[in-house]
Amino acid sequence: MKKLLYVTANPKGLEKSKGLKIGESFLEALHEERPDIEISRIDLFAYDFPQMDADLVSARGKLAGYGYTIDQLSVPEREKITKMHALADEFITYDYYVFVSPMWNLNSPAVLKAYIDNLFISGKTFAHTANGPKGLLSNKKAIHIQTRGGQYTGTPMQELESGDRYLKIALRFLGIEVSETVVAEGFDLNPQKVPELLEQGKVHARIAAREFVKELVQA
Ligand SMILES: Cc1cc2nc3c(=O)[nH]c(=O)nc-3n(C[C@H](O)[C@H](O)[C@H](O)COP(=O)(O)O)c2cc1C
Repeated sequence: MKKLLYVTANPKGLEKSKGLKIGESFLEALHEERPDIEISRIDLFAYDFPQMDADLVSARGKLAGYGYTIDQLSVPEREKITKMHALADEFITYDYYVFVSPMWNLNSPAVLKAYIDNLFISGKTFAHTANGPKGLLSNKKAIHIQTRGGQYTGTPMQELESGDRYLKIALRFLGIEVSETVVAEGFDLNPQKVPELLEQGKVHARIAAREFVKELVQA
């Protein structure tokens, strides 16, 4: 059975977040097409996961750069890097990923970057080769759903967008195929248009879900 991980980075909850509502539309349409795909959820604002603190940075350096074994790390280093590796091991068991995030200060909420930091493990998710780094997470597919207050598409603001750009770069670095992003934008420019923009976003998400499953190899 194929497995999909649905990762959300929005503290507002489903009642208030446009992006989370659009994400549910994506999942509904995906489920209609492929009810066999098992869906798991991670709400990053309610998820306890390792942060790249002094212990983790030190552990990472000792293992990757200085040839230490896990047993030679300090207790906090060992505990944190073990949790980080467990998070990455769990992530790798999925075939498909959906990320849902709002644009915050031109990027994504910091929890999303902090989560991605746990996935960059040399030898596990990517490798250094003679031709440069190579992602090891092949045969996996992801999509990003992003809400924005302003209008970036087709405007000079586009180049300022860094959240979707970073997520795609990071996932592709790890070898994951990333589809085009479902963008719903302009929500804060005209509050009266919010219902209409939300509906457009949901329609876009349903179309994207059908495209997403079309390209999947049947399990
Ligand atoms: C902390 C914060 C920073 C934000 N920064 C931006 C921004 O840089 N660009 C933008 O277009 N919207 C920005 N917004 C607005 C949100 O992206 C917008 O309201 C979006 O529709 C939120 O989607 P949601 O309802 O799914 O949370 C910001 C909102 C917050 C709370």
